Amino acid sequence: MKIGIDKIGFHIPDYYVDMNDLAVARDVEPAKFTIGIGQDAMAVAPISQDPVTLAANAALNILDEADREAIDFVMFGTETGIDHSKSAGVYVHRLLDLQPNARTIEMKQACYGGTAALQLAKGHIALNPESKVLVLASDIARYGLNTAGEVTQGAGAVAMVISANPKIITIENDSTFLTSDIMDFWRPTYSDVAYVDGKYSNEQYLSFVSQVWNKYKEETSLSLDDFEAICFHLPYTKMGIKALETLLEEGNEETKQRLQNNLEVSIQYSREVGNIYTASLYLGLISLLEGKELNAGERLGLFSYGSGAVGEFFTGVVQENYRDHLNVDHHKALFANRKKLSIEEYEEVFSATLPTDGSTVTLDTTDDSSAICLTGITEHMRQYANNN
Ligand code: HMG
Repeated sequence: MKIGIDKIGFHIPDYYVDMNDLAVARDVEPAKFTIGIGQDAMAVAPISQDPVTLAANAALNILDEADREAIDFVMFGTETGIDHSKSAGVYVHRLLDLQPNARTIEMKQACYGGTAALQLAKGHIALNPESKVLVLASDIARYGLNTAGEVTQGAGAVAMVISANPKIITIENDSTFLTSDIMDFWRPTYSDVAYVDGKYSNEQYLSFVSQVWNKYKEETSLSLDDFEAICFHLPYTKMGIKALETLLEEGNEETKQRLQNNLEVSIQYSREVGNIYTASLYLGLISLLEGKELNAGERLGLFSYGSGAVGEFFTGVVQENYRDHLNVDHHKALFANRKKLSIEEYEEVFSATLPTDGSTVTLDTTDDSSAICLTGITEHMRQYANNN
């Protein structure tokens, strides 16, 4: 049975910061951010957007009534959880008015959570071919003002419907993965920002790429020549470029050129959004699918990495007329309608956090164009509104 991604879409908040502005404000040569890191902009979430609303907004634009009836499993990958107990997916289930006889859970392993959900969804469909699974990957990456990681922040979500006979890509069965208990990046439960050993995290990411790719080659006898493109988890786009370089020690000239050209297409959206952790790999996939006319039957490689760390290399095969099922215009409009923040405005938005002492708060959402917003907190309960 063919199982894979039937629909896919993303959501980003209304605000962004230009990396040239950030560089000037931080007294850094702009080329370091735009070339050395490979980021042009980073998405900034207002206080009225949290991981729940970003994910719900992403899903809102891909689901129809038939999906709402068929979805019987919601899996929410995030490392920006809003509750130790209740799954962020349960809020989304209600906000999207999904049929009630569904399982809903949250998955966590840093940026790998979305891939874990996708692979488990595939297993669920293999056992229940008539059902559909909603996979959500949603995060707000925060390292703190004036930190080395600041330039690699971002905010956004990807939603995917996983089904049998998918319209976009099938996910193949061969896949190689790896777990190793390392401290390259983590966020203790008491901290609002991540702790990171930046250089070590880069080294580990690249080491995971080599290890899962070598194991994949051993197990499948496939080579780089069998791939039209490879998408990588993109903490910042230069990381994807470095990852591909480590693989390009093999492969013929034509393959190298093709993979480099297609990587360039796959990093375009991330250049404008920044790291969205669990959703970053899938934002790269959307950038490729929307930015290029791929042919049915072409194989795509996908490298997922979640610090701490788990990595996986897996593959998808492009389906006939896949472009008819994308949301290109909606995604273009999301970028076109964003408002650029000055650095002072960004710092203000970044510093405006929700109360943690249980006090009641009502948020002004008049400037938030997203259909689904966080409207406040009452008696420790987040309040959401769907203005769709
Ligand atoms: P840094 O120390 O500010 O930067 O930290 P740098 O000094 O290493 O410079 C970065 C690059 O800019 C270098 O290029 C410089 O040469 C270049 P490279 O040597 O790497 O090719 N550069 C310039 N280029 C052009 N013109 C110039 C110029 N000046 C310098 N004038 C770092 C960078 C990424 C470490 C930092 O931002 C950070 O710690 N970020 C967060 C951690 C991170 O993103 N790690 C990635 C791997 S781990 C991962 O992907 C998992 C993650 O997503 C979390 C999860 O799984 O949940 C993070």
